[in-house]
Amino acid sequence: MNIDDVSGDLSAVLLTEEQITARIAQLASEIDRDYNGLQPLLVGILSGAVMVMADLSRMMRIHCEMDWMAISSYGSGVASSGVVRILKDLNTSVVGRHILIVEDIVDTGLTLSYLIENLKSRNPASIEVCAGFRKPDRARKEVKVKYLGFDIPSDFVVGYGLDYAGRYRNLRGLGILNPAVYS
Ligand code: PRP
Repeated sequence: MNIDDVSGDLSAVLLTEEQITARIAQLASEIDRDYNGLQPLLVGILSGAVMVMADLSRMMRIHCEMDWMAISSYGSGVASSGVVRILKDLNTSVVGRHILIVEDIVDTGLTLSYLIENLKSRNPASIEVCAGFRKPDRARKEVKVKYLGFDIPSDFVVGYGLDYAGRYRNLRGLGILNPAVYS
């Protein structure tokens, strides 16, 4: 889905597909360099991270493995509930592995903060985070994001994996959702 297909639903375009692709390519190069010879385990957080995972992993030139977790935080609304619950756990053991958590967005940081503590308790060799986007003004928990695509404003954004009520995930690029759509 292109920006033009839903332009009436957006109050602004924050990032084009090209801008996002270029930044993800840079992150992939950094990860290639940092994890050379380590075969990291990319842990994608469903569902939003699907796009970042697909692009990042294919742009990487080193071997990696992928696994997925599903964690509840928002439901279908627009505000963080603070409730964090594992809906789907990893299929693989992470003992001794170099874990790279792949997220679409860090908002309050509650999800990642919980997840990092949870994964740390499973004795991996290392844990780092790669996120497409971060809303610094919304942070409630400090989380280190080693590989960050973009800091963005606190507006409700959709696209590139981010949804509103299940829609817009397949939008290329990132846009601010017009409040009329959800009010
Ligand atoms: C989003 C996003 C992160 C989380 C970040 O997931 O993918 O996992 O919220 O928010 P936080 O920093 O405030 O914890 P969401 O629960 O919307 O699920 P989804 O990825 O399936 O859309």
